[in-house]
Amino acid sequence: MKVLAIESSCDETAVAVYDSARGLLSSEIYSQIPLHRDFSGVVPELASREHVEKLLPLVEDALDHAGCELLDINAVAYTAGPGLIGAVMTGAMWAKALAYSLNIPSLGIHHMEGHLLAPMLADEKPDFPFLALLVSGGHTLLASVKGLGEYTLLGESIDDAAGEAFDKTAKLLGLPYPGGPELARLAMKGDASRFAFPRPMCDRPGLDFSFSGLKTSVLHTVKKCGALDETTRADIAASFQEAVVDTLFLKTERALKATGLKRVIVSGGVSANARLRAYFSRLDAQGIQVFYPPMAFCTDNAAMIAYAGCQRLLRGEKDHDLALDVFARRDFL
Ligand code: KG4
Ligand code: ZN
Repeated sequence: MKVLAIESSCDETAVAVYDSARGLLSSEIYSQIPLHRDFSGVVPELASREHVEKLLPLVEDALDHAGCELLDINAVAYTAGPGLIGAVMTGAMWAKALAYSLNIPSLGIHHMEGHLLAPMLADEKPDFPFLALLVSGGHTLLASVKGLGEYTLLGESIDDAAGEAFDKTAKLLGLPYPGGPELARLAMKGDASRFAFPRPMCDRPGLDFSFSGLKTSVLHTVKKCGALDETTRADIAASFQEAVVDTLFLKTERALKATGLKRVIVSGGVSANARLRAYFSRLDAQGIQVFYPPMAFCTDNAAMIAYAGCQRLLRGEKDHDLALDVFARRDFL
């Protein structure tokens, strides 16, 4: 079974082909970062227009690199949400129209299910059951995962997502969009012990997260410091990153203890963070296995949507009609 997938929920236009027998055959990603950089963030209308322009050449490239023809494809999967609704619609319309013209099924996939299953694209894949820590620009959540579609939410952010906190703090420090990776780069040069930023909601039981207070605390520090020299900026970045990673790690350890699970996957854009990976490698000593997606599939991509679409197709699932069932927000757990 070959599934072609389209991901267009934010500022990456991506197309991939996954084969149930041979694995991932191709994965194309066109990043819109240069387009949005002047605006210090994603401009939804520009994102949608760029998706419309780039989808056709990317589908052609994905088929080409997979060594396939359109007629070899058995189904078309797409991100149905959450995301910028205009951007989601461009990919969903494309996918549904393509599937209709080929008389094959289409499948709408929840973007976060894509992230949750992305570690299955790595050479070393986790067996079920496992704990999932999903850390992206829009979501931070812990879930217990028994199998495909068997997800139980254990905790989530009550305000900003971890990636969002990285992006907003990066902006405060005057770093260019996209802020998360830029802040992580600056943090490498800083002293993480210089500023004692709070570890929100760690002093009480529970598995929920909150990152907006941390961002405010950084704002106060930035104001207090006045004009920031390069060392201070790097120290703030490192201290902030430490607070986020420490919080994510503490809650994950707590969830592992509460569930008794021995495997954890970390996925979503923030799972690319080197300091986070250094923290999580400590779990080895406790007999806990940690899994990540391949680096290229931590952030948004279509390979994870193709994989999720293929698994759901194999279970006999598909869209019921041509109606465009897309969403800007929707829980999948
Ligand atoms: O999963 P993703 O590509 O998109 C969403 O579904 O939101 O995640 C993007 C988020 C952004 O907030 C970005 O700043 C953050 O992931 N991010 C990072 C790093 N790479 C991406 N945050 C910290 N360190 C990184 N290395
Ligand atoms: Zn994402």
